[in-house]
Amino acid sequence: MAECRARKRAVLLVPMPLQGHMTPMLQLGSILYSKGFSIVVAHSEFRPPNPLNHPEFIFHPLSDDSSGYKTSLVNLMDLISAINSNCRAPLQEYLGQLMKDQKLEGCQVACVIYDSVLFFVDSVATQMKIPGIVLRTNMASYMLLYRCIFQLQAQNLLPFPESRLQEPVSELYPLRFKDLPFSINAEISEELMDFFDSMVNIRSSVAVIFNTTDCLEHSSLSLLQKQYQVPFFPIGPFHKMAPAASTSFLEEDQTCIAWLEKQAPNSVLYVSLGSIASINEQELTETAWGLANSGIPFLWVVRCDSLNEAQSVDHFLDGHFKDSVGERGLIVKWAPQKKVLAHRAVGGFWSHCGWNSTIESICEGVPMICRPLFGDQRLNARYLTCVWKVGLEMENVLDRGSIEKAIRRLMIDTEGKEMRQDMLLMKDKIEASLQKGGSSYESLNDLTQFINSFST
Ligand code: UDX
Repeated sequence: MAECRARKRAVLLVPMPLQGHMTPMLQLGSILYSKGFSIVVAHSEFRPPNPLNHPEFIFHPLSDDSSGYKTSLVNLMDLISAINSNCRAPLQEYLGQLMKDQKLEGCQVACVIYDSVLFFVDSVATQMKIPGIVLRTNMASYMLLYRCIFQLQAQNLLPFPESRLQEPVSELYPLRFKDLPFSINAEISEELMDFFDSMVNIRSSVAVIFNTTDCLEHSSLSLLQKQYQVPFFPIGPFHKMAPAASTSFLEEDQTCIAWLEKQAPNSVLYVSLGSIASINEQELTETAWGLANSGIPFLWVVRCDSLNEAQSVDHFLDGHFKDSVGERGLIVKWAPQKKVLAHRAVGGFWSHCGWNSTIESICEGVPMICRPLFGDQRLNARYLTCVWKVGLEMENVLDRGSIEKAIRRLMIDTEGKEMRQDMLLMKDKIEASLQKGGSSYESLNDLTQFINSFST
């Protein structure tokens, strides 16, 4: 805590070690640091953040018995549950130590902010009598969706038959049953219900922070606020308030920026399915040929684990494909995405619609081709296509013909141009919300005051 001495109050952050969760937590840390708080990050030993990217923070690893942890989609529930049980005792011990130190150093731990899936933190904070605040890294509407899932369950409407797939879910416009975050035949196990519970139950937390903004989700935020007794702080998009420090687990391939420099404005389609989603061999091949046949320049992120059969991707993207594409396409293993989306050459984003990717694209005015794969991505995609009308949704099994058509609709047709105009309007509204008097700006000031109000 010696580093903390100059600042009187510290905030302890407990992030989930997944890219789409770690990034917003670290960004929130930078935002709160800029408001005068000292930032302490207690993280799992598994996939630690890189302290060199945040020399102003204090990092503390929680020993988590992490051998054998995996971040692939099929292992996700196991990972969440392992971290929830293994990190409890180490966090308790560390927090006890911090509180002892604070008496000596004069820097008080004002509160603990934790990822919503790490519900163990709530009980530790309660036990230590420190206020806990939940960070939700998805859309606020995702919380509403889970509240509705409990209602559907009470009405015996889950699991639902295939015949309902296209039916709208009442109260969840514009969602259909097929957009709910689990597959139709999924057994709704007790473990899954516990997870669902963590999506709506804020336990004894004294507030909820969202990486969203009022102009994107006004009605969901007001509906939610009526249902909870604690204050909500929609202070996003975080990445527009935080300095651009890297938060990537993988190394960003910067060479793509030089390649983008050679392309015409709005000419390039950026393609990425985020940090976890994987696809099968057929979808990879059809995507490759759809991109090749479209005639549009593209920058495609193909992670080493992009294929769900644990095969190497390289031989699918070699030979004939590379010859057909030539200099018109570039494939990288991981890109500096925010820089890419901000580049004038990028005119469209084919995305899995993870929430971070969604807001990063909106903030740069880049319209999207939506290919949601799991979890909240279908909800995000429905908002992009049906509410904000700035994206095209690609559903069902993909073939190269439909991919080529969608790409041309977005990148060349009038429809795509109109979406770009609408995205630019959204970008302006978001920028306004970050200025003095704007909703996120004011909400951040309220959050700062709220944390400062916790008594010593
Ligand atoms: C996961 C879930 O998939 C998502 O639905 C949920 O909202 C958050 O957790 P992820 O797959 O990681 O997210 O997607 P996303 O939320 O979009 O986050 C990916 C992050 O990685 C973004 O901040 C993006 O900028 C970054 N990224 C992605 C890169 O920096 N480089 C890349 O090449 C790809």
